[in-house]
Amino acid sequence: MVIKTADFVKSSGKWQECPEPNLPEYAFIGRSNVGKSSLINAMMNRKDLAKTSGTPGKTQLINHFLINENWYLTDLPGYGYAKVSKVQRRDFEKLINNYILNRNNLVNLFVLVDSRHSPQKIDLEFIEWCGESGVPFSIVFTKADKLKPNIAIKNVEDYKIELHKTWEDLPELYITSAEKKAGCNEILNFIQTTNEF
Ligand code: GTP
Ligand code: MG
Repeated sequence: MVIKTADFVKSSGKWQECPEPNLPEYAFIGRSNVGKSSLINAMMNRKDLAKTSGTPGKTQLINHFLINENWYLTDLPGYGYAKVSKVQRRDFEKLINNYILNRNNLVNLFVLVDSRHSPQKIDLEFIEWCGESGVPFSIVFTKADKLKPNIAIKNVEDYKIELHKTWEDLPELYITSAEKKAGCNEILNFIQTTNEF
């Protein structure tokens, strides 16, 4: 897919405040600092469309971007950020879960996990929740440039083994690097083929 335009639309503190759900939408979710905003920028070929930071907890609202004037790309706050209070963490979770469950035009959720780590409980629980809730999702491994390619592939294989303990069929998996712009075209192709525009 050729990206002709990518425009910030708005930041919302509640799903009810999001733009009218009149276009297909794709959202990025995952732990704080996993690289959601960076991958959005890499896919859109823009440096600063979504705000990134070395400090976890940068994205705190639901951010909508309008792409090619016919679909929405959404950057969500990360889950599991340890340094905020329990109440704040629960508020974030509520914001994310309500958005996912109520956003009728959401075509697919990309769940990002760090390719350097073995499967983490918080991510597995989130993936399980998506499955149980009937949310269509794919898994995106991030920061692959920080690993030797064979190690990245092995970590993905380990992840598959872990997922197979619960699921027979696995979702689409992508290995990406925002730094090297790897895996971006594959995700964009998937978006194009699942979209009706
Ligand atoms: P929150 O908004 O806080 O939830 O974080 P996020 O998931 O949006 O992460 P963000 O894109 O802000 O990136 C976090 C840090 O990881 C930044 O310092 C990025 O430069 C770095 N980073 C993100 N993607 C990559 C990648 O593919 N490779 C490398 N080497 N670093 C990355
Ligand atoms: Mg972010």
